[in-house]
Amino acid sequence: MPDARRWRALITGITGQDGPYLAEILQTEGVEIWAASRGGRVPDELPFVQAAPAIDLRDATSLARAIAAVAPDEVYHLAAQTAVWQSWDDPVETGDITGLGTARLLEAVRREAPTARVFVAATSEIFGEPERAPQDETTPIRPASPYGAAKAYAYTLARLYRQQHGMYIAVGILFNHESPRRPPGFVTRKITRGAVAIARGEARSLELGNLDARRDWGFAGDTVRAIRAMLRTDEPGDFVVATGESHAVRDWCELAFGKLGLDYRDHVVTNPEFWRPAEPVPLVGDATRARDVLGWQPAVTFEELVAMLVEADQSASQKSEVRSQT
Ligand code: GDD
Repeated sequence: MPDARRWRALITGITGQDGPYLAEILQTEGVEIWAASRGGRVPDELPFVQAAPAIDLRDATSLARAIAAVAPDEVYHLAAQTAVWQSWDDPVETGDITGLGTARLLEAVRREAPTARVFVAATSEIFGEPERAPQDETTPIRPASPYGAAKAYAYTLARLYRQQHGMYIAVGILFNHESPRRPPGFVTRKITRGAVAIARGEARSLELGNLDARRDWGFAGDTVRAIRAMLRTDEPGDFVVATGESHAVRDWCELAFGKLGLDYRDHVVTNPEFWRPAEPVPLVGDATRARDVLGWQPAVTFEELVAMLVEADQSASQKSEVRSQT
């Protein structure tokens, strides 16, 4: 007798930060995991994930083909152009990939797998310049960047598809979430990598933008637990995923350099190239709904998160030293 068909998940964005954490959780639950990426490949660290036909979020046909081939029970749409600062350099591509790409994906699911459950990743950037803090699911959206505008469109469309087509679509309004898998262009990894390089005598200074900018930073592994839980509720909905704590970029500097026995004030310099004005009302989330409905709460504290990234960067640089000596 062949095995009963396993529950099948399709993830877009497997090469990003969150995809691998999500795949690791789904694997522990015995879910059959497929990933659709631009190159049609899966990272080597995830041998239990199968490669779906390659997709390009700018090409509706490629999305329809991948969804028809996998016939998923659930789809996690994580892929996007996610760098806020880059969205100013290329607003058209950001709109095409992050905004219209979500439209193409939802349309492909509607046609090829209409009963599949869908998760769409939105972001605190849809609040942009919020009227009040903390922000929750009822806070009016006021995006302040092309990226925020593209995600606001994706968020709105996901809600409309839920209402109009009766599809099961959950939306996570994700606040900043970090991990050792975070690419170094984002401020958290930039700080921890920079601090480790300075502690090892490989660099003298670190150039940053606005040290007083504030964000609500959580651990990506905690965020994907909430994402997972969203597709396990009877009714799909919108959920803010946040820690509820606001910290400044300066706090990251103080803790990361401090952990290495350094004073950030001796090493961090500001460069206007990286400057973005701080929001008059800070982005900080109220995740009461996720707690009440999903039973979710973050496990990793801010201090633990900073330490996790510093330790990961220390051990990465030790490994690369060993490699270069052998
Ligand atoms: N990147 C960067 N580089 N940011 C800096 C720097 C710097 O040198 N110096 C200060 N910052 C400040 C930015 O002005 C911003 O206020 C804050 O650090 C965080 O910047 P990023 O790490 O680039 O993240 P983000 O908040 O713009 O966006 C991230 O979080 C969103 C919410 O979850 C991204 O992951 C988005 O894709 C995501 O939607």
